[in-house]
Amino acid sequence: VHWTAEEKATIASVWGKVDIEQDGHDALSRLLVVYPWTQRYFSSFGNLSNVSAVSGNVKVKAHGNKVLSAVGSAIQHLDDVKSHLKGLSKSHAEDLHVDPENFKRLADVLVIVLAAKLGSAFTPQVQAVWEKLNATLVAALSHGYF
Ligand code: HEM
Repeated sequence: VHWTAEEKATIASVWGKVDIEQDGHDALSRLLVVYPWTQRYFSSFGNLSNVSAVSGNVKVKAHGNKVLSAVGSAIQHLDDVKSHLKGLSKSHAEDLHVDPENFKRLADVLVIVLAAKLGSAFTPQVQAVWEKLNATLVAALSHGYF
């Protein structure tokens, strides 16, 4: 994947506005509520039975933080995302048995969280760059499945 200087600057600018803890919690909460079948992977997280249980769940919060930190770290390695995410791809495939379709779902809810947060600053051009990043992340995370 080739990134122009402008694309890199756009990603850095958006990421600079992200609150890993809050936005990670919001994104993972949305994943679990909007796509409830994803809850099956998180049976050790306790009560996820309704919106307030999910958004008040401290394990969801801690895990959202982990996931967005991993996204942030991948953003620091834009020219090498595939090898950077190799280990996580393998663990999601071989240990966690996560259906890779769900990576796309998580990428989609992250877009919703960013759009809600940035408002009019999340222009079509910014979204276009972000979707390219999402496609890169999803492809890298899915790579270990094949
Ligand atoms: C664990 C990242 C998507 C299910 C993890 C960990 C990271 C991570 C960093 C912790 C690994 C460790 O502690 O060694 C990501 C990223 C994703 C993603 C960057 C997409 C952008 C998903 C999706 C699901 C999922 C879509 C399921 C629907 C899990 C589960 C664990 C995990 C079940 C183990 C949780 C636990 O028991 O602590 N993920 N993940 N992940 N992930 Fe993901």
